[in-house]
Amino acid sequence: MALFRATKTKKVWPVKRLVGTVEMPGDKSISHRYAMLGAIAEGPSEIRFFASSADCQSTLDCLKKLGVKIERRDDVVTIQGVGLTGLKAPREPLDAGNSGSTMRMLAGILAGQSFPTVIGGDASLSRRPMKRVIDPLTQMGARIKSAEGGLPPLEIEGGTLKPVRYELPVASAQVKSAVLLAGLYAEGETTVVEPVATRDHTEIALEQMGADIGRHRLSIAVRGRARLEGRKWYVPGDISSAAFFLAAGLLVGESNLVIRNVGLNPTRTAILDLLATMGGRVKVLNVEMLNGELLGDLHVEPGPVRGGGIPSELVPGLIDELPVLAVLGTQAEQGLTFHGAAELRVKESDRIAVVAENLRRMGAEVEEFRDGMRVAGRAKLRGAEIDTQGDHRIAMAFAVAGLVAEGTTVIHDSGCVDVSFPEFFDTLERVAE
Ligand code: S3P
Repeated sequence: MALFRATKTKKVWPVKRLVGTVEMPGDKSISHRYAMLGAIAEGPSEIRFFASSADCQSTLDCLKKLGVKIERRDDVVTIQGVGLTGLKAPREPLDAGNSGSTMRMLAGILAGQSFPTVIGGDASLSRRPMKRVIDPLTQMGARIKSAEGGLPPLEIEGGTLKPVRYELPVASAQVKSAVLLAGLYAEGETTVVEPVATRDHTEIALEQMGADIGRHRLSIAVRGRARLEGRKWYVPGDISSAAFFLAAGLLVGESNLVIRNVGLNPTRTAILDLLATMGGRVKVLNVEMLNGELLGDLHVEPGPVRGGGIPSELVPGLIDELPVLAVLGTQAEQGLTFHGAAELRVKESDRIAVVAENLRRMGAEVEEFRDGMRVAGRAKLRGAEIDTQGDHRIAMAFAVAGLVAEGTTVIHDSGCVDVSFPEFFDTLERVAE
């Protein structure tokens, strides 16, 4: 029997099994993009199964302040596109909340506007690096002021942009998207070259909307001043949210879980590849393609997971899943080791330090590296007080740990799950026996 207490802290106890069918919220990355692109398209767009995530609501609120008419009825969002040049100067600074995607990707659009905009965020976002978008957008001709050290808030003074060829110094889909969005405002062809392939939802959506976009291996070129057509979208379930249920379903005794309508874009499914190589029993069923994005159902059954090393080339495609994979690693036969994940230190929290600290509190053996960690396997976890540092993925990863730990795990500031998955604890409770 699982018990979760509805306070700002959640208590999690071990459960016997997780059984049933669950739905994930609409994909956060895709929802941001459909909203932003819908705003600068011609005519209306309707987005079904829009993410319930607070981050995606931050994007909608910023777009509204830019003069875009947006209606939301539950998970259906209707946007009256204003065209590439129809945004209006906001009367007050934009607030991206906790959302790095909102700030970085919107910066690309704001760089192309004829008015200045200030965009800020909460305490966590105010510590996150923005130089990575400031550099390419400045090369394109925008003038951007930031706080000391390239931190938010950003004051973006846009104008006429020139096309660039930009080689990304870090693998980042947010930065790639910011440059492509700015490229829509430049006369001519803007090219972004990635060090490794990152999630390509922006490219797919632009193709679907009729933009002139060319892709060749790691390079993506977009022609500016394209006319984007508003349209109907369906957002697949978020595979990064599904990761918590995959891990829980693999770890908890006699579980039998189906996760429905999960986005299976190949730039997001490294988690499935990794689990398959480690012996995890996950089946992919009912695959279909909608708006250029693959989706399907995942069936997960418990069983031993070998663990071992995560190949570094898989890491950028798994970046959001690493906290829960570290938890899974504590139960794997060979533990789990990964490198090449320095980016984890500049997420909503320093996820390497915060995961290591909380795993140690639960009795796991962890070695921290500058760019990764090693967790010893076959650990006997015990319930502990989890300091989430207000980071949604830490809260959910450690709720999964609590399901297989001895005693009570207390997740502090558990409300932070709203950032990506407000229904997380309810969904877990529904399938826990
Ligand atoms: C995202 C890209 C990733 C990811 C984030 C969402 C996106 O960030 O961690 O949660 O929607 O493009 P980076 O682009 O910083 O790698």
